[in-house]
Amino acid sequence: MSYNLLKGKRGIIFGALDERSIAWRTALRCHAEGAELILTNAPVAMRMGEINKLAEILNAPVIPCDVSSNEDVTNLITKSMEHFGGGVDFILHSIGMSINVRKGKHYTEIDYGFNAKSLDISAISLHRVLATAMKMDAINDWGSVVALSYIAAQRVFPDYNEMADAKALLESVGRSFGYHYGVKKHVRVNTISQSPVLTTAGSGVKGFDGFVEYAEKMSPLGNASADDCANYIVMMFSDMTRMVTMQNLFHDGGFSFTGVTEAVINKM
Ligand SMILES: NC(=O)c1ccc[n+]([C@@H]2O[C@H](COP(=O)([O-])OP(=O)(O)OC[C@H]3O[C@@H](n4cnc5c(N)ncnc54)[C@H](O)[C@@H]3O)[C@@H](O)[C@H]2O)c1
Repeated sequence: MSYNLLKGKRGIIFGALDERSIAWRTALRCHAEGAELILTNAPVAMRMGEINKLAEILNAPVIPCDVSSNEDVTNLITKSMEHFGGGVDFILHSIGMSINVRKGKHYTEIDYGFNAKSLDISAISLHRVLATAMKMDAINDWGSVVALSYIAAQRVFPDYNEMADAKALLESVGRSFGYHYGVKKHVRVNTISQSPVLTTAGSGVKGFDGFVEYAEKMSPLGNASADDCANYIVMMFSDMTRMVTMQNLFHDGGFSFTGVTEAVINKM
C-alpha cells in the first residue's frame, strides 16, 4: 500500500548490498511512496552486481562511493546534485563494517589500525557525509537524515565487539551534527536502533542466530523486520516527523525497555 508520503522528494540511499539489506528494503518503500532515488555503495560491493538489479527496478542511477574517502563523498554529492538539478530531501546511512570482527579479533585484543578504519567507515562517515553536504548546500530545508544503529551502543552484547563503540559514536555524531544542521537549515538527523535482522552485516556477528532468537523472545512485539524498519524510515523522511531531530529512536518491538519476558523465563 502506498500513501504518497514521499511524493516529490529526492534522496540518496547508502548500503543496499543485496535484497536482504535494510537499505534495499528501504529503497523499495521510498520508491513506492513516490520518491526519486540515487543508490550508492562501496566500489567493492558494486562488483557483486546485485545493486544494478535494484537500480533497474527503481530506475535510479548508481554512484559508487567508499564512504571513508572524502573525494568519493564529494563526487557522490556533486553527481547527485547534477542529476536532480538541486539538493536532496533525505539521506539514509545504512553502513557498517568491523575489520576486527572480520579478522576474528576478540574485543580485548583488537588491532587499533583496524579499529580506526572500522570507526571511520561505520561512524565518522556520517559526519563526513553531513559535513560535505553542508559545505555544498546539498540538503534542502527541512530535509531528513537517518543512520542505522544497534542497542549495543547502550548495553553490553559481548560478541558485538568494536561495533558497540562504533554505534555509540555514530549516535553521538547524529546528535551533535543534528544540532548544527538544525540551526543552519532545519535539517533533522536521527539514528534508528533496529532489532537484529539476518543480513550480510548482521550475520558477521558471532552466534547471530541465537542473538535473533533471544531478541525475539525478549520483545513484546517480537523482532522488527527489515520491511518494518523501511516503513519507519519512510515516516522519518516524510513531513509527518518534521520536528523530530537529534534522537536515537528504538525500533525493536519493545526490546530496549523490557527487563524479562515469560517466553525467556520459560526457556530457563
Ligand atoms: N542486521 C542487523 O541485525 C542490524 C541491526 C541493527 C542495525 N543494523 C545496521 O544497519 C545497517 C545496514 O546493515 P544491514 O544489516 O542491512 O547489512 P548489509 O551488509 O546489507 O549492509 C551494510 C552495508 O555497508 C556497506 N559498506 C561497508 N563498507 C562500506 C564503505 N567503506 N563505503 C560504503 N559502504 C560500505 C556494505 O557494502 C553494505 O551494503 C548497518 O549500519 C548495520 O550496523 C543492522
